[in-house]
Amino acid sequence: MSQGKFITFEGGEGTGKTTQSRLLSERLQKEGYDVVLTREPGGTQAGEALRDVFVSHEGQNWPLSAQMLFMFTARSLHYEHIIKPEIEIGKIVICDRFADSTLAYQGYALGGNIDQFESLKKMVLGDFEPDLTFMFDIDPFEGLIRASGRDNQEDTFEEKDISFHEKLRQAYLDIAENNPDRCHVIDAAEEIDTISTQIWDKVKEVL
Ligand code: TMP
Repeated sequence: MSQGKFITFEGGEGTGKTTQSRLLSERLQKEGYDVVLTREPGGTQAGEALRDVFVSHEGQNWPLSAQMLFMFTARSLHYEHIIKPEIEIGKIVICDRFADSTLAYQGYALGGNIDQFESLKKMVLGDFEPDLTFMFDIDPFEGLIRASGRDNQEDTFEEKDISFHEKLRQAYLDIAENNPDRCHVIDAAEEIDTISTQIWDKVKEVL
């Protein structure tokens, strides 16, 4: 049986990562791979219910410790019930957001306690890390325009001011710089086809 892989898609609002994670999943399936496409917060039935609570009860304004605990609660269920077992049976798990989102949003951009983040990460994931992470980078103005055009009823971080989105962008770039082995920055202003080709070339290297 071939070794499973874990590939994550990360970035701020309106970067196009959700579209690209779907395109990668379709491409891999066409090539004959067993793929699981999932997302955070969410992924499990309980995790999706938790997501609904977060996006419909102004989760973005909760105390930062509550936001971090919440994300890692949903992530623990997701990791133990889906991500880990699916990788163990050789599947390629593609996840739209993962722990880097908690570090970028609740940690760097909102100013949460990074030591608390690291402790929760260790408790929930141990030393587990994605095999490959795509960091979608775009000028936040452009990202917010794109995000506002989506048919999405979820109440998220889009309403925060531009300085928050600038911090978030820098947070992801810093995470990518600190983890060069797994992170690959994508210029999200490029055409959809150009980006999907870049992603496919990188994915082929880890398969
Ligand atoms: P989405 O933009 O991918 O639909 O994600 C939903 C929102 O959840 C988005 O505004 C970012 C937020 N989020 C966090 O704040 N921390 C996290 O750890 C995750 C996974 C998502």
